[in-house]
Amino acid sequence: MTILRSTVVSTIMLFTFTSPAFADFGSFVPLPYSVPAPKDNPSTPEKISLGKQLFFDARLSVDGTVSCNSCHDVQGNGTDSRSTSVGVKGQIGGRSAPSVWNAAFLSAQMWDGRLPTLEDQAKGPILNPIEMAMPHPDAAVSRISSIPGYAEQFAKVFGGETPVTYDNIARAIATYERTLITPNSRFDQYLLGNSAALTRKEQNGMETFRSLGCHRCHRGPAMAGPKLANGQIFLQWFPAFPNPYIDEFKLTEDLGYNNGKEDELEVRRGKWRVPSLRNIANTAPYFHNGSVKSLDKAVRVMARSQLNRELSNYEADVLVAFLKTLTGEYSIQATPMLPADMKVSLKE
Ligand code: HEC
Ligand code: HEC
Repeated sequence: MTILRSTVVSTIMLFTFTSPAFADFGSFVPLPYSVPAPKDNPSTPEKISLGKQLFFDARLSVDGTVSCNSCHDVQGNGTDSRSTSVGVKGQIGGRSAPSVWNAAFLSAQMWDGRLPTLEDQAKGPILNPIEMAMPHPDAAVSRISSIPGYAEQFAKVFGGETPVTYDNIARAIATYERTLITPNSRFDQYLLGNSAALTRKEQNGMETFRSLGCHRCHRGPAMAGPKLANGQIFLQWFPAFPNPYIDEFKLTEDLGYNNGKEDELEVRRGKWRVPSLRNIANTAPYFHNGSVKSLDKAVRVMARSQLNRELSNYEADVLVAFLKTLTGEYSIQATPMLPADMKVSLKE
């Protein structure tokens, strides 16, 4: 069976090597080097710099201990590499922190796709009681505006009578996040015409990915599904087929959207947004609950849960080899200088 498949795959590869259709990669798209900013939040270098400072600034948390960067380390893989994240006072959340690298390409934010934009997303963690735990948006605004270096920058970047607002804090952070892109992976080089960028084994993995049907969900620049019209989110059942991994990895303890709590959103229960596969080799553990430690196991869970298919060792091996080629170039994120203020009160 394994031998048969590998023969079939190499025949396809031989064919594509000599075929003029070679350049047609269908659902595969190289990762762009930039993302367009939304009309109501244009990007400027000053806004990016302000957003980066806020992203690194633990003073946005109630007791000054947790920043966005605590859970999304942009000097590394953009996550905390834990199964579930740790917020203020050591509190542990229920989901794994996804990477912020390339989040700008997602059609919706969060594992359950509950927030449409990066701007909406950035307002969440500051107020989330187990993340940064600010009691109210005004608390964050008065904390930030009491720091003269921030007040000055907000005035320059946003202008107006009250430049420091909760919305503007989120706008600046989202603008910075749109710069977190990892282009030029070997897969991208291959898509752009350098056929030597992938080994034969990796190309077999790419074909296996496609022939199994992984690309039905994981496609587009971030391999996170298509953008749908009218702001619809590309949600899929997970798990879609009953299988033994469900108990082993507790895949149905969390039911997705708001953990299935809101009745009016019952249609989304058990459904999850298709996540990006960019840099996937660097962002273990996997899935919304961070329950799966290895990429080999993750692809087996996917094949079984989403395609009702048991992978052979050969298939798992080439799929993992292919997924490793999706690691792009991380730009260096030097720690920003944060505006000083000795008097800022970090009392709750
Ligand atoms: C205590 C850890 C923690 C902190 C602090 C934190 N996050 Fe997160 N972040 C998470 C977790 C966990 C999720 C996934 C939650 C979910 O899907 O329900 C997440 C999701 C995200 C996502 C969505 C990515 C995707 O793939 O959908 C973005 C973007 C993000 N966070 C940015 C931020 C920003 C900006 C801040 C600071 C304002 C921040 N985070 C603070 C843990 C954290
Ligand atoms: C029907 C849609 C669908 C198909 C087909 C599918 N996936 Fe997924 N994939 C998802 C969803 C949804 C998730 C998120 C699951 C969750 O919420 O934990 C996911 C998650 C993943 C993850 C973990 C991502 C992370 O950041 O933890 C990997 C790796 C993955 N898929 C690879 C594959 C591979 C390889 C195939 C083909 C064998 C495949 N997927 C087929 C929908 C799909």
